[in-house]
Amino acid sequence: MLQNKKEIDLIINKYAGKKGFLIPLLQEVQDIERYLSKDVMRYVAEKTNTKLAEIYGVATFYSMFRLRPQGENIIRVCKGTACHVSGANSIASAVREYLNLSGDEDTTADGKFTVMEVACLGCCSLAPVIMINDDTHGKLTASSVTKLLAKYKK
Ligand code: FES
Repeated sequence: MLQNKKEIDLIINKYAGKKGFLIPLLQEVQDIERYLSKDVMRYVAEKTNTKLAEIYGVATFYSMFRLRPQGENIIRVCKGTACHVSGANSIASAVREYLNLSGDEDTTADGKFTVMEVACLGCCSLAPVIMINDDTHGKLTASSVTKLLAKYKK
């Protein structure tokens, strides 16, 4: 049983019969669900008469789609060239260490934070940069990013 079935039905009805509906539909569904679960993809496939393989193909091809649950706060660590040469790797390591993430984990066990690496956040003069939700933080060090995360954790 889907938790947000009513909202998902409204989205499906909004796009019913429209050409090129799948990507915007999945984006809106993901905005509600915070990720695309197997159950959601199956439901959308059934309701839109689309093959599940096509939906899965779109969901796995585009990096904007998530197939795993997403945390309440999104941390985007810039790994673009300007940030890379300014220490992005040490920032990324400090973030992951502070949040106790290992291996390919990207979301904390308490569901508070999800960490993503991105190509450029568009403010290279502030490198190295991270975004936490809609807030941009630049000129970071491994030490300052840890202090910053502590504020968000409260
Ligand atoms: S490379 Fe990091 S903001 Fe552009």
